[in-house]
Amino acid sequence: MTDDPAKRAAGYAAVDRYVTTGTCIGLGTGTTAYYAIERVGQRVAAGERISAVPTSVETERLCARWNVPVAALLENPMPVAIDGADEVAPDWSLTKGGGGALFREKAVALSAERFVVIVTESKLVRALGTFPLPVEIVPYAAPYVRREIERRFPRIEIVRRGTPDRPFVTDNDNWIIDCHFGRIDEPRALDDVLRSIHGVVASGIFWGIASDVIVGDPSGTVRTLERVQAS
Ligand code: 5RP
Repeated sequence: MTDDPAKRAAGYAAVDRYVTTGTCIGLGTGTTAYYAIERVGQRVAAGERISAVPTSVETERLCARWNVPVAALLENPMPVAIDGADEVAPDWSLTKGGGGALFREKAVALSAERFVVIVTESKLVRALGTFPLPVEIVPYAAPYVRREIERRFPRIEIVRRGTPDRPFVTDNDNWIIDCHFGRIDEPRALDDVLRSIHGVVASGIFWGIASDVIVGDPSGTVRTLERVQAS
């Protein structure tokens, strides 16, 4: 992976600010979360006792590389979880799942007392929806899920992730469909509709979960994002 100072700044700052020794934390998935994992690894190497609940097989592999002990969900209290995002709206609603780990990421984020989001400026948007919304679905029900989404939203494009003969398979043995809704003005309502369809496991909309958003800059500085309340 090529070095990215902005992602590194955000990942390191989140760990330095919110992770205390002797705790178990949630660790996200992706190229920004990578730096948070690296920072935790450095602290473990320095002798601190920190364990982690990984949000994907890939993150579990990185924890092993850094000798960070892993734990199961809610095996221990989890004061903080740290993860990246694909989009962050002004009210801190998020799109996640670009790496396909959204189900476990949401489980960890909801289980933690605090969910710290780490991003670069490029992820900040005025409204969700430029990034196609990832939705994890049970493969058996895929035709039904597609029909039901198309019935409710007739004009949207739905693309199953992967290639035509080799679908992308999640860590939970499910598929991802990327749904091109365009601008999403009511993320909570859209998440509710999608979750009501039998066969949908989770959508990549994270609404009302983020506690803090740290934005990294290529110069290596960070800022915390102010939240604008949804009207
Ligand atoms: C993986 C995710 C990631 O957090 C999201 O895709 C951001 O990744 P990156 O930091 O690599 O841009 O949701 O499922």
